[in-house]
Amino acid sequence: MQRIKTLSEYFKKYELSEKDPESFWSEIADSFTWKKKWDKVLDWDFEKANTKWFQNAKLNITENIFERNLKERGSKTAIIWEPNDPSEPSIHLTYQELYEETCKFSNALRSKGIKKGDRVIIYMPMVPEAAIAMLACARVGAVHSVVFAGFSSTSLADRINDCQAKMVLTSDGNFRGNKTIPVKSVVDEALEKSSTIESVIVLERTKQTINMFEGRDHWWHDCIKEESNVCEAEVLDSEDMLFILYTSGSTGKPKGVVHSSAGYMVYSAYTFLNVFQYDENDIYWCTADVGWITGHSYIVYGPLLCGATTVMFEGIPTFPNVSRFWDIVDKYKINQFYTAPTAIRALQAHGLDPIKNNSLESLKVIGSVGEPINEEAWHWYHDNIGKGNCPLVDTWWQTETGGIMISALAGITPNKPAHASLPLPGIHPVIVDADGNELIGNNVQGNLCIKFPWPSILRTTYGDHQRCINTYFSNYKGMYFTGDGVKRDHDGYLRILGRVDDVINVSGHRMGTAEVENAINEHEEVIESAVVGYPHNIKGEGIYAYVIVNSESSDDIIKAEIIDVVRKVIGPIAKPDKVQIVSGLPKTRSGKIMRRILRKIASNDYGNLGDTSTLLNPNVVEEIIKGAN
Ligand code: PRX
Repeated sequence: MQRIKTLSEYFKKYELSEKDPESFWSEIADSFTWKKKWDKVLDWDFEKANTKWFQNAKLNITENIFERNLKERGSKTAIIWEPNDPSEPSIHLTYQELYEETCKFSNALRSKGIKKGDRVIIYMPMVPEAAIAMLACARVGAVHSVVFAGFSSTSLADRINDCQAKMVLTSDGNFRGNKTIPVKSVVDEALEKSSTIESVIVLERTKQTINMFEGRDHWWHDCIKEESNVCEAEVLDSEDMLFILYTSGSTGKPKGVVHSSAGYMVYSAYTFLNVFQYDENDIYWCTADVGWITGHSYIVYGPLLCGATTVMFEGIPTFPNVSRFWDIVDKYKINQFYTAPTAIRALQAHGLDPIKNNSLESLKVIGSVGEPINEEAWHWYHDNIGKGNCPLVDTWWQTETGGIMISALAGITPNKPAHASLPLPGIHPVIVDADGNELIGNNVQGNLCIKFPWPSILRTTYGDHQRCINTYFSNYKGMYFTGDGVKRDHDGYLRILGRVDDVINVSGHRMGTAEVENAINEHEEVIESAVVGYPHNIKGEGIYAYVIVNSESSDDIIKAEIIDVVRKVIGPIAKPDKVQIVSGLPKTRSGKIMRRILRKIASNDYGNLGDTSTLLNPNVVEEIIKGAN
């Protein structure tokens, strides 16, 4: 695959992708290995949320990772694994070794009855086996659904039940900083609430005591012991499902975003190579977890398709101390480093002392993902980590887009602090006003839509296609609606302004306000709740919950219980930062909660609450302001 090398080449490619998208994408797709080539490049109808790329082509994505790369790169390191505890040895797996481990585990999956189309849940720590599990599913044509190992048993059970999964891949426990977290017992609890799982394969990681259920649970090492290191890949259709990844939206239940085989393969590889400008001998590190889309596209699939060396880190940025990220950069001489603004802000808060002993001179490109990066964090990252001479790619994209959509190409597109900048070739963003009118020209602000399909656009929401149509393709006719606000500045550069719907972005993780409210409402003494986001110095947005209770307990006790219920129902990442007990919520006469007012109060922005006289209960606003945290 050819990489774009200059700005004029970028503009040329962009123009071609607008004029003749089919030639543009088929030329890129030509550099992959196909069992059979496509009959037609693209077929689409946004009103029905139907998009098909590379129709009737046959392939297996893992043959494009392994067979396509092995000859030239068999002895090249594919994955470097850095454990949570730096005194434990790291692991380097070559492409040949990763291939053999993947084949063994693919055979183990087949021996346990997994076949094409079956759904397999992966609930694992950040260890090489997590990547092997994903690749083995892909090899045998099973559909993986990775669930972030911090989610609760209820969240896990919801996902298992929604996709009717047949198997869970997990570990005994998980090391995270100085904590050892139970993982298998969470799976056991989840499986009490679901009936479709036939077997569980457990990787031994922490060696803690766990229950193994006879007939259902098997150790990973036993499963692969007798298996061959060769495994024929299942032949898949271009549009066969590759994976499902659950993500939060404005309505209560997370949706299973579905990605297909061929389009996702082409797009994740193309964007990886071009955005990060990966060179053959570079060492690339993305700090995400494979439980999120960033881990799928830019730890596993994108880099491995391009024959890159990708680093997987099991731990957290603050263990054993706050120099950990920078120590890893120096240890492996990382060339491209990709992380989230929340991590940057958290580390920035510790000042420059933690980096004074690090050279960081291997870095060529630094990247940001998951949430808007504020200018202060951008400059700190650029000046102190990138030493002022590494291009900073601020990459905007979503679980649903499968790959990076708006971003500078490292060293090619001029950097502008806090601006994702320009769309990638093949991506046609439009800015619309509330009525759906396209806002043309520069210096405009509105909602971000995409008016033309790209290969890794989501294909459906699992089990409910109408939900996909309603969520993404109904707000603005003939366009994909992202849920984000955006500004095009006087130079034509795009700046993402954050969500315009009821989704909160906490530390780069998406949380639906309705989802958190549903969890809070599970507390017996809660009558009603309303959840909004507010600006948070480190997390980007914090979660603020207004709750009406009927309780004899003190406010402090009930607040702690509410936080605990959210932790149990969703997981620690959804815990409210602030809980305010109120006697009522501001509502319109038709009974709708006025979140706009609650958001302003949570943000300490009392000056401009707008007209509150039309509220059903205007007095409650004063009371809420008085009691605000
Ligand atoms: O609001 C945008 C924000 O994250 C949302 C997507 O979240 P998720 O599907 O979890 O994927 C995160 C990783 C790709 C978007 O709707 N977002 C993501 N990247 C950026 C961003 N906001 C501003 N700037 C970004 N670079």
